Amino acid sequence: MKRLEGIVSLIKPTESIVDIGSDHGYIAKMIADKKLAPRIYVTDVAVGPLSRARENLRDYCVETLLMDGLKGFKEDLDAAVVAGMGGELIIKIIDESEALFSQMDYFILQPMQQISYLRRAMYERNYFLWEELLTFEDRFYEVLLYKKGRDTPYDFEYSKGLYSDKELYSDYLKEKQMKLHYILDVTKNTDLTRNKEVQLLLERLETHCKNNGIMLL
Ligand SMILES: C[S@@+](CC[C@H](N)C(=O)[O-])C[C@H]1O[C@@H](n2cnc3c(N)ncnc32)[C@H](O)[C@@H]1O
Repeated sequence: MKRLEGIVSLIKPTESIVDIGSDHGYIAKMIADKKLAPRIYVTDVAVGPLSRARENLRDYCVETLLMDGLKGFKEDLDAAVVAGMGGELIIKIIDESEALFSQMDYFILQPMQQISYLRRAMYERNYFLWEELLTFEDRFYEVLLYKKGRDTPYDFEYSKGLYSDKELYSDYLKEKQMKLHYILDVTKNTDLTRNKEVQLLLERLETHCKNNGIMLL
C-alpha cells in the first residue's frame, strides 16, 4: 500500500476531520471521495502549499485555513491527520493545541523521521497507540493511530506489535539491520562513541526480533 492510501485506510467515518500541513490537499480529497466525513478542514502554515490545496480542492466542500498547526482553530474536531513532517514538529503541533487533540476520537500521525522520539513523546503525554500500519513507497513509512489514554510501555524504537503485514515488517527490520551494520563498519576506527551506540542498537534490534519470532539476515 502506498503512503497516502495507507494513511486514509486508517480513517474511520466521522463528523469532522482536519488534515494539518496538507500541502497538496490530496488526503482531504481522498477523505471526501470516500465520504468519510461531512466536515473536512485542511490547514497549512505556508501560503504556497495552501494555494495548491485550494486549487486541488476547488470542486470539493473542504475548508482551507492558513494556520500554524491548529492554533486559533475555534470549533471542536473529531479526528485529525498530521502527516509528512518530522516527529518533533508533529509533537510541537500536538502540544500547542493539546486541548483540541485530547478531546478527539482519534488522530493519525505519519512522521517522516524521529519515529522513536514520537512514540515515546506520545506515550509520555498519555496517548494510546491503537493501530499501526507500515507502508512502502520507495521507502518505508510508519502510520500510527492514537487516542487519549494510558498505554503500556514498549521499546519505542520499534513497532508496538500491531502491524498485520509481518513480512513487510521483517523486511523493514532487515533494512534497519543492514544500515546499522554499515554504520558499525564505518565508525569502528573513527568514532568509538557512535560505534558503541550502534552496537547497543543492534543488540536491541536482535532482542526485539527474537521476542517477536522474526529472523534477521
Ligand atoms: C511535506 S508536506 C506534507 C504534506 C502532506 N501532509 C503529506 O503527507 O503528503 C509538509 C507540509 O506541512 C506544512 N507545515 C509545516 N509546519 C506546519 C505547521 N506548524 N502548521 C501547519 N502546516 C505546517 C508545510 O508548509 C508543508 O506544506
